Amino acid sequence: MAAFLPRVFSGMQPTSTLHLGNYLGALVNWVAMQETHDCIYCVVDMHAITPSMEVWGGPVELTRATREVAAAYIAAGVDPKRSIIFNQSQVTGHAELAWVFNTVARLGWLNRMTQFKEKAGKDRENVSVGLYDYPVLMAADILLYKATHVPVGEDQKQHLELTRDIAQKFNNDFAEQIEKLGTGTGDLGFFPLPEPMIQGPATRVMSLRDGTKKMSKSDASDFSRINLTDDADTIAQKIRKAKTDPEALPSEEKGLEGRPEAENLVGIYAGLSGATRAQVLSQFGGGQFSGFKGALVDLSVAKLGPIAAEMRRLLADPGHVDAILSDGADRADAIAAPIMRDVKDIVGFVRRRQAS
Ligand code: TYM
Repeated sequence: MAAFLPRVFSGMQPTSTLHLGNYLGALVNWVAMQETHDCIYCVVDMHAITPSMEVWGGPVELTRATREVAAAYIAAGVDPKRSIIFNQSQVTGHAELAWVFNTVARLGWLNRMTQFKEKAGKDRENVSVGLYDYPVLMAADILLYKATHVPVGEDQKQHLELTRDIAQKFNNDFAEQIEKLGTGTGDLGFFPLPEPMIQGPATRVMSLRDGTKKMSKSDASDFSRINLTDDADTIAQKIRKAKTDPEALPSEEKGLEGRPEAENLVGIYAGLSGATRAQVLSQFGGGQFSGFKGALVDLSVAKLGPIAAEMRRLLADPGHVDAILSDGADRADAIAAPIMRDVKDIVGFVRRRQAS
């Protein structure tokens, strides 16, 4: 009976360009986790096509964005030799397991998903079934590898809870068969219940124009976010124009309460510098925003400039990026295929005869 080794799975959607929220909320932690875990990092192209085509941009844009997101992973420090980097659609198990999970997840569970409600808005009858089913595919992504840890930003917390519910229900529903086939792990069942890893001082990076709104790819204003591909001048302009309030920075964290824009910029500085918010405030507390913004521009350009340059270098050779994705898909499939075979046996699907 195999124990669950610590295994990380996480992913990002290839829709438009990654931003500072993706970087600080997730990518920085992904890089760090390579030291302690087996890591699988996916470009979730099947998730990307769930909104309307105007949103995801169509086939040419999807191909471009898939390569760009893979390049961002590598440029930020994910090592494609040590970790697995691939795009979701290359490993068929994601769609297969999602189908099985469609029969495990309950309608009531999906009806509670706040991200769906936000994304669907008032036009609910007109959104794709895929958008509604999105969290089920996400559960399949994670559990296809029996991943135990999932580093994400705060906005994914509810999806991770759903993933745990699906794993638990599958383990319960099929407990007898799992026991009979001996594919479980002691009392734990077949699937582990994965832990969300929501870490660091910037788990929810907010818009630079409105500290109460999440920094997002879908915000109409490009000044609301810093893209990983922005050049130094653009970064400087966006930070200088970022909304603030008229007071000086506080010296302690409790002074940030009720000041969402100040809190956000301090969180960004802390995330980029690897310090805590308290350390940032002990350095800049009492000072005006203008001085702090100058330091934040310098830090952002120093941290993000090399990432953008490395992304440009990698994207100049798309064939190389595709080869990395293809190699990653082979390695991901080698982990997924036996797990998917077990799932099919557990459910009772008759296997295809092996060619002799
Ligand atoms: P996506 O593509 O929206 O975002 C990718 C990652 O970036 C984090 N993030 C943020 N963190 C802090 N502040 C923000 N403003 C911010 N915006 C985005 C997200 O939390 C995420 O970690 N459903 C996922 C993709 C996915 C996935 C998975 C993740 C599909 N399958 C399996 C983990 C495991 C998503 O839409 O991420």
